[in-house]
Amino acid sequence: MANFRIQNLSDYESSYRESIEQPESFWDGIAKNYQWQKPWDKTLEWNFETPDIKWFLNGKLNITENCLDRHLEQRGNKIALIWEANDPKEASLRFTYRELHQKVCRMANILKELGVKKGDRVCIYLPMIPELAFATLACARIGAVHSVVFAGFSVNALADRIQDSGCEVIITSDGLNRGAKQIPVKSVVDEAVALCPDVKKVLVVNRINWPVHMETGRDYWYHEMLTHVGDTCHAQTMDSEDNLFILYTSGSTGKPKGVVHTCGGYMVYAGYSFQNVFQYNESDVYWCTADIGWVTGHTYILYGPLLQGATSVMFEGVPTFPDPGRFWQVIDKHSVNIFYTAPTAIRSLMASGVDHVLAYSLHSLKALGSVGEPINEEAWHWYHTHIGKGRCPLVDTWWQTETGGIMISGLAGISELKPAHAGQPLPGIQPILVDSEGKEIEGEGVEGYLCVKFPWPSMIRTTFGDHERCRINYFATYKNLYFTGDGARREANNMYRIIGRVDDVINVSGHRFGTAEIENAINQNKKVIESAVVGYPHDIKGQGIYAYIILAEGTSQDNHSRDEIIETVVEHIGRIAKPDKIQFVSGLPKTRSGKIMRRILRKIAEGDISALGDTSTLLDPLVVDEIAGGRL
Ligand code: WT7
Repeated sequence: MANFRIQNLSDYESSYRESIEQPESFWDGIAKNYQWQKPWDKTLEWNFETPDIKWFLNGKLNITENCLDRHLEQRGNKIALIWEANDPKEASLRFTYRELHQKVCRMANILKELGVKKGDRVCIYLPMIPELAFATLACARIGAVHSVVFAGFSVNALADRIQDSGCEVIITSDGLNRGAKQIPVKSVVDEAVALCPDVKKVLVVNRINWPVHMETGRDYWYHEMLTHVGDTCHAQTMDSEDNLFILYTSGSTGKPKGVVHTCGGYMVYAGYSFQNVFQYNESDVYWCTADIGWVTGHTYILYGPLLQGATSVMFEGVPTFPDPGRFWQVIDKHSVNIFYTAPTAIRSLMASGVDHVLAYSLHSLKALGSVGEPINEEAWHWYHTHIGKGRCPLVDTWWQTETGGIMISGLAGISELKPAHAGQPLPGIQPILVDSEGKEIEGEGVEGYLCVKFPWPSMIRTTFGDHERCRINYFATYKNLYFTGDGARREANNMYRIIGRVDDVINVSGHRFGTAEIENAINQNKKVIESAVVGYPHDIKGQGIYAYIILAEGTSQDNHSRDEIIETVVEHIGRIAKPDKIQFVSGLPKTRSGKIMRRILRKIAEGDISALGDTSTLLDPLVVDEIAGGRL
């Protein structure tokens, strides 16, 4: 039977083989490494038609018992979480497993006092402060379903998410620190709650002493509630297939959808993938720079590391404050051994010069990781050479909010490193490339749409409140396959290179946006008649947002209008979705049936206007010349 820990290439190969040939007994063996209140009586039931996916059926567990209680005896005094503040002058905080257990239990007791019960959804809108970790785990403790919303999202984006998942309780803070700035948070929640009549309670953490309005009977200070709650809390018994969390992500159509993950399978895969991709050792300090508002933070700041009894660093700040050496200073300060970040961060630090790196030793580093978008070769080499000093393996981890955990990646120190290639699938993962008809493309040196043909434990179960949307989005494009939305290339040795999205999703600094979502936001501005958004290559962000906009008659096509439109996007989504370029046009290239030909707009935005392809089916081919001529 396969070992939980993969220690060398032949372990990987035999585990992979077993996981394909006998997936159920393979995952049985892996799942036995966790603590279950009652074992499962069937490993897997699935079909990709409806879809209906169940793992570890009738197994009972609580993921926080596995993240916390299980470690108390052996690792009670081991540091679970190191929290590093935005300002390097503020003291960092350390929480042992025993302390974290207590913090989580106390937060759980507060939630119970606020009326939260098993199955209730709780919205967490907090910056990267320790209470974000406590709150997330506290929900899991009592069987409430957490929906963490990144604190950079705007009022409208927050309100949409609160309403879609029917949250009645929100956990937030007065404000947040971001580099040299302080930003109010509670006031955003107040405005969102005004749009969400079902919200009953708001729990507020005091982070920056920002003056806030507290609504009697609705709003409660965390520090006041803390004074009277107990520090133990029974871990709610959960079924494997009970919901653990909802996390919203953008797709090619409509509003962001709530990806649902369940307790058992997610737990099994989070710990297994964390352990093996990063080759975590008991004494390692591990740091993932993501925000817990994204799936990377869920799985690889909180659940994965805590399941394995690791020491995980949580960072409140930004890579460039007080200067672009901040990441490297934190690595030295906490003797970080494993460092996991995004290509966009690497590219921006690369641009500020290597002197900021040379000021630090970085000798503690043993392994590096990358996530969020394809890492270009230049960034790969810079990261490997200047941060890893050429001696640390660099794993490029491909996965998605929907996959719950890393799917295709090297295993640090075990796999062959190939710049810009994600690598081989993890055990249990069966990728397949298909053509536009859904026909499998076999062999090596081939390219196609990336799908997965067999379930894995942490895969998406549904989109909250709308199962049909889940089916259409992921399971209806190609029969009996999970469709990722990415294109990929397969080389020799089952090695994959991810090319990027093939749908109308753009990846800006590792964040996903649907072009339709940004267009909808832009169109809220009264001056806008119509808009079309595409991605274009951006040196730092990976992709930038390029918007073509038709303004109402008599509106001046000036920077003032541009600023107003940008403000509209900030209001409706958040700063992270600001268009980088806005070109005013008199028309958009449409087919006779009224469909915008994005292919042409994409080419123009990319600056590739020599080969615009066939424009003969356009209603008004002349508009293309106008747009190409006015390109920014
Ligand atoms: C999309 C998923 C879960 C990771 C954080 C983003 C792209 C992610 C890689 C990588 C190439 C990558 C894909 C994917 N992506 N990691 N290592 N190499 N592309 O999660 O917001 O759900 O986005 O990010 O296009 O589909 P997400």
